[in-house]
Amino acid sequence: MDFELKTLTRSRVCSEKCDALVVLVPQHVAEGDDTLSLLIEAATQSGDFDRKPGKLLQAYRTTGIAATRVLLVGAGEGSAKNVRTAVNAAMGAVKGSNAQRVVLCLSLLKDGDAAHMQAAVVACGDAAYSYTATKSKVTPAKLQRTVVAVADAAVAKVGFDKAVGLVKGIALAKEWGNRPANHATPVMLAGAAKELAKLPRIKVEILGPKEVAKLGMGSFMAVARGSEEPLRFIVLRYDGGLKADAPVVLVGKGITFDTGGISIKPASEMDEMKFDMCGAASVLGAFRSLGELQPKLNVVGLIPACENMPDGKAIKPGDVVTSMSGQTIEVLNTDAEGRLVLCDALTYAERFKPRAVVDIATLTGACVVALGAVRSGLFSSDDALAQSLLNAGERSLDLCWRMPLDDDYADGLKSNFADVANIAGRAGGSVTAAKFLQRFVGKFPWAHLDIAGTAWKGGAAKGSTGRPVALLVTYLLEQAAEIAKNPVLVKAKAGSTAVKAPAKKRVKTVSV
Ligand code: BES
Ligand code: MN
Ligand code: ZN
Repeated sequence: MDFELKTLTRSRVCSEKCDALVVLVPQHVAEGDDTLSLLIEAATQSGDFDRKPGKLLQAYRTTGIAATRVLLVGAGEGSAKNVRTAVNAAMGAVKGSNAQRVVLCLSLLKDGDAAHMQAAVVACGDAAYSYTATKSKVTPAKLQRTVVAVADAAVAKVGFDKAVGLVKGIALAKEWGNRPANHATPVMLAGAAKELAKLPRIKVEILGPKEVAKLGMGSFMAVARGSEEPLRFIVLRYDGGLKADAPVVLVGKGITFDTGGISIKPASEMDEMKFDMCGAASVLGAFRSLGELQPKLNVVGLIPACENMPDGKAIKPGDVVTSMSGQTIEVLNTDAEGRLVLCDALTYAERFKPRAVVDIATLTGACVVALGAVRSGLFSSDDALAQSLLNAGERSLDLCWRMPLDDDYADGLKSNFADVANIAGRAGGSVTAAKFLQRFVGKFPWAHLDIAGTAWKGGAAKGSTGRPVALLVTYLLEQAAEIAKNPVLVKAKAGSTAVKAPAKKRVKTVSV
């Protein structure tokens, strides 16, 4: 679906031809004498229209309004969250109609609020997404175009562009999350990364089993052993900043299917373990948005991708493996595999001398128990980084919640046969997993997002949510703004200081 931004005042919106006009109506709106204002006033007075978030009133071929259908939708106090609820409800109704061209009228909301714009456009994008990759009969989507109407398009433009870039990243993350494991193998994920390298300033390097062995990633390799599908280690780079700018590194768990391995999972709902690469999908999604938005910073994306399968060659409970860091790990439970692939990726991240490293993983069932589907778990040893991510989450309505990292939580990870065990007891499972990862963090600010509860929905609405792409991209754009405020000064030869020239555009794809 395409988006377009247009200046349309309340009265102009009445004469805008379209299949459906969706009007967000907050609790408090200044009165007007145009047809739309009179309609809203009359509907409210009669009690037929309630302005609570998401309440709908639909009309058809209304005199004085050029749109075929009119949907008034309550936007409550007009917060970004209310806007999201309103657009979700309205687009749900529009999707069930024949409408191809929709005008989404935000002109009655507070002017130029980027958070409103983002909430509205992202909710529209969510409604427009549909999964088709493995269906034999695909009915083409009716909805083709959404015109976002605001009181002043010039004021809203920056927020609009960001939101449209975000929608593309979210859709890509959903798509890869949703694909079944036989349509999203590690090699296929690497293929998706190669596609991204066609975008400006993005390049990719794909490492296979040989290269990974050479690096000494014994922990990652141990997880992949039980599968016929060869592993891939994906290294994405987005070079939007100066060469001297330290990159933000995103690390995404890419378990394309998690059976649990020899510590096999119960059969019920095991299909949902195809979503165990949603961390990886969120990194791909973030890069899709970066390619679109072209912010001035450097970002590295690392994805250790493999399956976790039981097999004659699979690792067994009690096996000891040697990680890239040199630390030995006793694998007491082969189902705690996410941390085993992430720890080697964290060690690899050190070589980029990162500004910050954020790993994203569907890591623990315990995090689902702790926080449910509302907030992702955030673990960080760095208060500034934690605060930036919390803020980015609030601003993008992609929430997270900070969890503790007290050293006492690591007590249960002691092993009699290796430097560390890969599990502790049942208690505090999401924290002990984070404590395991923390042992592999080098000299850089680090944060870990456990998205086990937020990355996908089960039940009738089963599917990937695209979270936390909005949080990540919002954070990265903020970092770009920070970097612009404090540019890296590089000593010129003459001894004076000069700002270094931007890195050359590189779109080369390196692969094995
Ligand atoms: N991918 C799972 C985590 C998971 C489980 C996410 C259920 C969402 C729903 C992870 O690899 C896993 O199996 N973790 C184990 C760890 C345990 C063995 C210490 C878990 O959470 O049960
Ligand atoms: Mn597992
Ligand atoms: Zn897993």
